[in-house]
Amino acid sequence: MTTPADFSDAPEILARLATRFSCRDFEPVAIARDTLAAIVADGVQAPSSCNQQQWHFVIVDDKATKLAARDIAGGNPHFAECSALIYLCFQKGWTHNNFSVVQSVAGACYHMMLSAHLRGYSSIWNAGIGDHKRLRALLGLPETFEPQGALAIGAPRETAPRVKAPRRPVSEIHSWNRFERPAHTLYPAKPAPFYPFFDISNENNPFAEWDPTCWTWDQVADFRGYSVWAKSPLAGVYVSRRQGDATERELDMLGPLPSGPANVVDVMPWGGTATTRLALRLPAGARLSVAELSPHNLSFVMERLAREGVPLANVAGVTMDGPRLPFDDASVDAVAALQTLEHMPDPEAFLDEARRVLRPDGQLVVSVRNRSSDYGDEWSHGEARGQVPNQGPFTPLPAQRVRDWLAKRFTIEAEAGIAVDGDGSAYVETGEASHSRRLYAARCRPAPTGR
Ligand SMILES: Cc1cc2nc3c(=O)[nH]c(=O)nc-3n(C[C@H](O)[C@H](O)[C@H](O)COP(=O)(O)O)c2cc1C
Repeated sequence: MTTPADFSDAPEILARLATRFSCRDFEPVAIARDTLAAIVADGVQAPSSCNQQQWHFVIVDDKATKLAARDIAGGNPHFAECSALIYLCFQKGWTHNNFSVVQSVAGACYHMMLSAHLRGYSSIWNAGIGDHKRLRALLGLPETFEPQGALAIGAPRETAPRVKAPRRPVSEIHSWNRFERPAHTLYPAKPAPFYPFFDISNENNPFAEWDPTCWTWDQVADFRGYSVWAKSPLAGVYVSRRQGDATERELDMLGPLPSGPANVVDVMPWGGTATTRLALRLPAGARLSVAELSPHNLSFVMERLAREGVPLANVAGVTMDGPRLPFDDASVDAVAALQTLEHMPDPEAFLDEARRVLRPDGQLVVSVRNRSSDYGDEWSHGEARGQVPNQGPFTPLPAQRVRDWLAKRFTIEAEAGIAVDGDGSAYVETGEASHSRRLYAARCRPAPTGR
């Protein structure tokens, strides 16, 4: 009789499977069709609801079709360079309850990923496949079949990041016989008696709690620290089209730094886009501390900086404990908090902290998405109706409120309103207009004590 003890190679196999991680940077090479077909054959060893195997997999290995698929998908550039895309589809009409048909396709997809991994290839599962209508036309997919995602398989580029996204501690995500889960992993939702699944979509989520003051610092840290890995830390990732070159104009607010080894802190940068630009601007010898709520986020940003060509010798990651920065009083020359106050459960507590760590001649550079702008209205009527984004909950703040907070603690040296044109070029306005553009930015110095 076979007993579990017979599977003495199980730990080795499981350890090998656990080394799989998603790749978004492929060498544009072909994989033989026989191999691709074998991967699909492995995948369908997965169980399926009622054994109906209502799945269908369209394998795209033709260059032109991959390019068209990438254009339809929009946000997944790796579609063009992977060796093949396996579209995950199912036939509609059977085993719908509790998404049984979807669960079945998911099982097969993961089995294919493991097969590809054991065969020495990399892969990535993508739900972001774009407009179904265009995709149907491209693949000749009948209306009775639903595309759910696409599995991209290929050979990783030599330079592709080889970092595995962190996993939640297993103790956090299981419980015995009853539901139990740590508080920092239970995220706030708008109070309601029920949360009907079909009333919630990415674009329309009536229960999403965007106001970070309804979240704890630990909840924000937890949320952002995992979802930053929604992408690989490749150069250029998380550069938003809407932001255009506004980052450069935000960083223009930074005043001259003292000669010698200045201490600069970048606060809660999430994906590291502005950190990259900031690091590349700093004078030689300056030390940059990246202060983040979650160590997972820090590991992403540090890897990202390396891939952006930022020399890391003078860059360190530090973990914030809520609003607290791990620095001595009056020890920092510049604090940059770009588009982060609006993500904080208690922005004023953070401003007190920035004031504490800055040297008397130090500077705080802040920018916020401005509620008192056209963007603020668009956010309220559009964006905020959807789900909380991967960067975590945020609520644009009125420029005047931020100015008042700053004026209580700092001397405001410069203010700017930053707007972005349709072509992505950002422009700066001063005076009254600084309070009504998409971003409100300011540079301040600690006010003398006793103020
Ligand atoms: C259902 C599903 C959909 C996903 N969709 C996308 C996607 O559209 N684009 C993308 O870049 N990654 C996508 N991913 C990849 C995840 O971001 C990735 O699996 C996760 O960050 C964990 O990293 P790992 O696969 O390296 O362990 C998806 C993963 C799953 C399971």
